[in-house]
Amino acid sequence: MTALLQVNNLSKTFKLSRNWFNRKTFTALDPISFEVQAYQTLAIVGETGSGKSTLAKLLVGAEIPTTGHIKLNGQTLQPGNFKQRCQHVRMIFQDSGTTLNPSLTIGQLLNEPLVLNTDLTEEARHSLIRETLQKVGLLADHMNFYPHMFSGGQKQRISLARAIILAPQVIILDEALASLDPSLRAQMINLLLDLQEQMGLAYILISHNLGIVRHFSDEIMVLSQGQVMEMGKTSDILNKPKHKYTKKLIMSQRFQLSHR
Ligand SMILES: Nc1ncnc2c1ncn2[C@@H]1O[C@H](COP(=O)(O)OP(=O)(O)O)[C@@H](O)[C@H]1O
Ligand SMILES: [Mg+2]
Repeated sequence: MTALLQVNNLSKTFKLSRNWFNRKTFTALDPISFEVQAYQTLAIVGETGSGKSTLAKLLVGAEIPTTGHIKLNGQTLQPGNFKQRCQHVRMIFQDSGTTLNPSLTIGQLLNEPLVLNTDLTEEARHSLIRETLQKVGLLADHMNFYPHMFSGGQKQRISLARAIILAPQVIILDEALASLDPSLRAQMINLLLDLQEQMGLAYILISHNLGIVRHFSDEIMVLSQGQVMEMGKTSDILNKPKHKYTKKLIMSQRFQLSHR
């Protein structure tokens, strides 16, 4: 069976200067390959600057890869075609909730991707918006509210609603749970797991928090300086880490884990 998402030899080298005499480059991500199945979660862990967000941006099509390609359902995604991509692969950031346009109602915010990417009638869009709000645990009546009328946790649900409204197959959560307090975070994780079950979503979870990763993910990729240190089943990596970098990461969080 072909995996939902297949990443082959993907890498990114940034050009730091375009000066002909001084061609400095920086490789943020060395070539990597991996697969993610529907209904599965791959966690990506690694210190700051290890290339996690660069990988996320390549996956959503916000950066053009230096080498390699990405296949979704066996079909190669075109590097420049952000519109095609963003229907199927969506990203939620840590501060997604705070970057919602304050002058638009929630209904307008959710309508935007539908107008851009679908031919749905106004009526069909309206009912899809109501349905999606309910799916993320908000009320259909919230359509007429503005972002400032919501709490941080609710805003995060609004960005989740925006992410799922086009029925994507892959959602990338780039530290999306980091700024939520523990009880809101637990609610959000349960919601994400429910949606995964309902919609067959694949998640790519970028997180510093190994407690979240243990609870949430099926597999883990450990990144350091743009290279994959190790990759495998969550329980194997967390219980029997092979690489010294992974061991260090686990040691540094053991106290937090045992006191959760
Ligand atoms: N547009 C860019 N130009 C040059 N260097 C970049 C650019 N984006 C990211 N980098 C560098 O790539 C490395 C990885 O960054 P990033 O993927 O954001 O790391 P992480 O998300 O793991 O903290 C960092 O050293 C960063 O400075
Ligand atoms: Mg990052």
